[in-house]
Amino acid sequence: MVMDVMAAAARIEEGGGRVIHMEVGQPAASAPSTAIAAARAALDSGKIGYTEALGIPSLRTRIARHYSESYGTNVDPDRIVVTTGSSAGFILAFLAMFEPGDRIAVAEPGYPPYRHILAALGCEAVPVRISEETRWSLTVDALMAEHKKKILDGALVASPANPSGTMLDANSLAALINACAQAGIKVISDEIYHGLDYAFPAETAAKFSDDALIINSFSKYFCMTGWRVGWIVAPKPLVRSVERLQQNLAISVPTLSQVAAEAAFDGRSEMEAVKRGYEENRKILIEGLPRAGLDKFLPVDGAFYLYADVSRFTDDSLSFAKNMLDETHVAATPGVDFDPVHGNRYIRFCYAGSQAEMHEAAERIAGWLGNR
Ligand SMILES: Cc1ncc(COP(=O)(O)O)c(C=O)c1O
Repeated sequence: MVMDVMAAAARIEEGGGRVIHMEVGQPAASAPSTAIAAARAALDSGKIGYTEALGIPSLRTRIARHYSESYGTNVDPDRIVVTTGSSAGFILAFLAMFEPGDRIAVAEPGYPPYRHILAALGCEAVPVRISEETRWSLTVDALMAEHKKKILDGALVASPANPSGTMLDANSLAALINACAQAGIKVISDEIYHGLDYAFPAETAAKFSDDALIINSFSKYFCMTGWRVGWIVAPKPLVRSVERLQQNLAISVPTLSQVAAEAAFDGRSEMEAVKRGYEENRKILIEGLPRAGLDKFLPVDGAFYLYADVSRFTDDSLSFAKNMLDETHVAATPGVDFDPVHGNRYIRFCYAGSQAEMHEAAERIAGWLGNR
């Protein structure tokens, strides 16, 4: 559906209109200059060969160091697997962890490729409704109720989450991981929006368990979507399976991107400045959208998303997004992309653009909704 919105936005732009793009979940900023310089030097060397399937050893070590620096927890570099974005990380993880027919709990609303990749691999994504009562996150009670109905083999947790931008606090994450361990449910923790936390610090599953599999990426915090590089922290017994899968499915992750990723860690100060921009944007929308008439949204804890309830105005979020685009030239994603059941009540705004764009978007929407 978001592709329909993007195509309509492109038509407006072809006709000379200026669209404010809040539909796609990607940073407007570039990769850290350290990453770009390292890639350029590697390119100039002319030698871009395969790497080890698990990734360049110095990058794996650097990623492991990130856990002690950022979370104060030790992770063995042997557990790190470099992947082609977190997207390929999901495929490797699901293949290594599950068998066809296995049932994996995913939050609804949630990031659609979880259920699509699981379906493509013959697994069953089991939607677990999240709501205001559970602060829009998976809870032990909801998971165990589902497990009681029919056995779950896995559970996927994401914090900060997409599309909600909502986070789990450390205690809730620990409780989920412990309950799953007791029930024999394997945990995958999608930590791709880590680093982009505003309400409270995001905690890694690595702190609570060596058995949870963690997925992360350079796409969001490091603004490297197109470089296609991410990583897995795998439980030790799974590393060999993941390595064999990677050897066969991809041989290795693009070398240039791995070199750039390692150097990205030296560009954190640039990325912190980008993050401060998101914080400003978040504030502008939290204050501006209610004035525009959109006064109900999920907790805006992290990532760069605001998931707004538009049920006062519509029961068809795709038409709402299309009309908003036509009339205000602000593009956002209809909730039906993330939630086939209740998605018609919501639209998702991505606030990874500029402060000027956020102000202007809020004003344009205020003018539009005020006239309805
Ligand atoms: C929650 C979540 N996980 C994973 C991804 C995949 O990102 P990538 O493959 O670029 O690492 C995205 C992309 O938007 C996402 O929102």
